[in-house]
Amino acid sequence: MIFVTGGAGFIGANFVLDWLVENDESVVNIDKLTYAGNLESLASLESDKRHIFVQGDIGDASLMAELLEKHHPRAVINFAAESHVDRSIHGPEAFVQTNVVGTFHLLETIRAYWNKLEGDNKADFRLLHVSTDEAYGSLAKDDPAFTEMHRYEPNSPYSASKAASDHLVRSYHHTYGLPVLTTNCSNNYGPYHFPEKLIPLIIVNALAGKPLPVYGDGQQIRDWLYVKDHCSAIRRVLSAGTTGETYNVGGWNEKPNLEIVYTVCSLLDELRPRADKQNYAEQISFVTDRLGHDRRYAIDARKIEHELGWKPAETFVTGIRKTVQWYLDNQQWVVNVQSGAYRDWLETNYQD
Ligand code: NAD
Ligand code: TYD
Repeated sequence: MIFVTGGAGFIGANFVLDWLVENDESVVNIDKLTYAGNLESLASLESDKRHIFVQGDIGDASLMAELLEKHHPRAVINFAAESHVDRSIHGPEAFVQTNVVGTFHLLETIRAYWNKLEGDNKADFRLLHVSTDEAYGSLAKDDPAFTEMHRYEPNSPYSASKAASDHLVRSYHHTYGLPVLTTNCSNNYGPYHFPEKLIPLIIVNALAGKPLPVYGDGQQIRDWLYVKDHCSAIRRVLSAGTTGETYNVGGWNEKPNLEIVYTVCSLLDELRPRADKQNYAEQISFVTDRLGHDRRYAIDARKIEHELGWKPAETFVTGIRKTVQWYLDNQQWVVNVQSGAYRDWLETNYQD
């Protein structure tokens, strides 16, 4: 079996759902259930014995050690993190606590577990650490995209805390020989995305008739990766990646934010026209820019393609249509997120 940490969050939940479709191998899912953890995203697995959910903190060494001894996973995939840049600007401490200190404790616990493994179990064990392109910093308009050799220049408390965790992971390979893999991916989008991030926020606000906040001039560029493509990349790196290596994962979809917002608006105009027949783009509202806002991220994903044969299946055109349609089809999930009802899911549905 495998361990997934942070598997009730956006990417982790998509990963667990896809994993159990692609494999018959069980998953122990350890998640602290912060505001970003939503077990309702995993509702379809409620009676699936292959999914074992444990509410816990990656920094809780005794809990993690106990779980490792009990279940003997062959791999740990670490998604657990504080992940929202704006929140890191307003309150960086939680980011240092989970992303840096939490990852450190996780590494220590896994090292102790791995040290006791023998033979093939030891040789085949993997820790896959999920990181971000934001650790590389910001690019100018004509700079080449980030390769794995680009130096780390994180600019926000979020990206600095992720960069710190990446360095710790790297050092545990170099110093102790721990078999680690690191992936640095671009901005994910798709189902179960918490509506504090750009794309789900725009969809949800548009449908609610609220303003669509665009920071600054809206010309900041991100690369957009459909979350299910990210999940397939992680599966590929886990099965074929070389330990100690990092792999950039991107969607080859660099776009300015304003273009993203217009694309979402025009899809909504087509799929769920406004009652007054006006365009959703009328709701766009330019607001004060984010502090220290990175201008451009871009991923050069040739290494994972050449070495591991992975490339994304979705273009932005296909992925964003699926995403908008998913939000239209899953309004109750959105309502429960907005009302906070998703936080009662554990008590209501996981009594034992
Ligand atoms: P998310 O915020 O949606 O989910 C994070 C999950 O981790 C939540 O379920 C939360 O409850 C859990 N968690 C937080 N602190 C924890 C702790 N101390 N112990 C255990 N669980 C804890 O984040 P996401 O968007 O799913 O991102 C997952 C990972 O991918 C993160 O490491 C993030 O840095 C990275 N990443 C995300 C993106 C993106 O576009 N979303 C891009 C690049 C990298
Ligand atoms: P976000 O989804 O928060 O991801 P990240 O900051 O990790 O890239 O933001 C994506 C881009 O959209 C980023 O440049 C900030 C911008 N943005 C807005 O313009 N308006 C918003 O309401 C949000 C949440 C983000």
